[in-house]
Amino acid sequence: MKKQNKFYITTPIYYVNDKPHIGHAYTTVAADVLVRWHRLLGEEVFFLTGTDEHGAKIEAAAQKNGQDAQKFVDEKTQTFKNAWQELNIKYSNFLRTTDNNHVRAVQNALQVFFDKGLIYKGNYKGLYCVSCEQYKLEDDLVDGKCPEHNIEPILMKEECYFFKLSQFEKILIEKISSDELTIEPEERKNEVLSFLRRGLKDISISRKNVKWGIVLPFDESQTVYVWVDAFLNYLTGLGWDGSTGKTPDFFPPDIQLMSKDILRVHATIWMALLLALEIPLPKKIFVHGFFTVNGQKMSKSLGNVIWPEDLVEKFGADGARYLLMSSLSYGQDGDITMERFVGKYNADLANGLGNLISRVFNLIEMNFEGKLKADSGVNLDIGDLMKDLKFFEALQRIKEKIDWGNKYIDETELWELVKTDKNKAKKVLGELLAVIVKVGESLAPFMPETSQKILQSGRAKKITKGEALFPRL
Ligand code: MSP
Repeated sequence: MKKQNKFYITTPIYYVNDKPHIGHAYTTVAADVLVRWHRLLGEEVFFLTGTDEHGAKIEAAAQKNGQDAQKFVDEKTQTFKNAWQELNIKYSNFLRTTDNNHVRAVQNALQVFFDKGLIYKGNYKGLYCVSCEQYKLEDDLVDGKCPEHNIEPILMKEECYFFKLSQFEKILIEKISSDELTIEPEERKNEVLSFLRRGLKDISISRKNVKWGIVLPFDESQTVYVWVDAFLNYLTGLGWDGSTGKTPDFFPPDIQLMSKDILRVHATIWMALLLALEIPLPKKIFVHGFFTVNGQKMSKSLGNVIWPEDLVEKFGADGARYLLMSSLSYGQDGDITMERFVGKYNADLANGLGNLISRVFNLIEMNFEGKLKADSGVNLDIGDLMKDLKFFEALQRIKEKIDWGNKYIDETELWELVKTDKNKAKKVLGELLAVIVKVGESLAPFMPETSQKILQSGRAKKITKGEALFPRL
């Protein structure tokens, strides 16, 4: 049953062929920011993330490592959990597709599809990109290569089971064009619609040659296609057991976050599975852009990655979260480099926020014995932006207030003013303190620890300069 005042958000479950890079962190931090925001609004929140552990790609990665697949995925999954912990991400559940409950539910669901006549046996021939875990059409390729991974797909021919995806073409076009299932940004929705209008083909949903997967309940010689296994996580992560028509608490998702690499499969296969199960569709898919390095997508396969632990080590958890969320407009691609992160950290956090706080707190401590009341009525509302997932713009709005504060100190020559006109200085400091407190409140979803520190010191009976929040690098 749908709960009142609830908010269910998901990230993709990530492949565990390697440890997470900051592209994965980008989606997961964004989800965490939204979760914290919706909690502040008083909503009951469920935040699901996890790992996608089966399939040819993982099987190959384990082999390459000379490791038993289960042991390999256990180790890799731990690197995701560690990274999320370091980034202060507070998920409600971390779903692993090798969990017994998930495996059983997937098998139950497959039996449902089979019994409904949605699955039939046949032969599939096509070009397969193992890194995408997807068959590709000639149209999808650039110079004969998968543009996503820059590798040539392999020709595969196999006896397999098909899922009648084509049957769902019309209803999907209806639901997406009417925004019953919203896909944002708009250009992504149009992309999906034009793909659907070119016609949906049935898909192969089993693999004879992949051993590392969930065995089909109606044919033990085959395993289920890893995407079908993976999609059902959004249900099993809520404790769903694989029965048709049984919608778990919190379902459907209010927002499913992902990047454009996996939108098409979500908008087709995942939605068709839900329709087949007679379970309501998600309300919204929000598609963000790629972090690129020199114009190329940052990815493990391309070997041009920045790791989250390096960000945390250099900038702290909050610094890393800030940099991830403020580097590009959510929905757009953008080039990033470590140098640019350092520049932004120094400009926005060390010289901006940190400096404002230490100047104001210092002046209050030295001239008013730390006792000063904040003004009221600071105008800084990011609610409209948060509603539209405009994180970059929200942080920009906060930054403008901080810049205003630093400029105000310079313009009033506040360090002189405290000596020449104490009353006036007191008024200015009251205004600045109010700005700091408001900034502290607004930063709560983005930088939870910093926000808490700012609010504690800013509301303290006796304000002291304290330690620098963000030492210059
Ligand atoms: N396992 C599938 C998803 C199954 S969901 C039912 C998968 N995994 S993945 O590890 O490749 O993760 C893809 C997702 O990671 C992207 O959609 C995006 O959320 C995030 N990102 C991976 N690389 C990224 C960038 N370079 N930039 C931004 N986000 C990136 O696909």
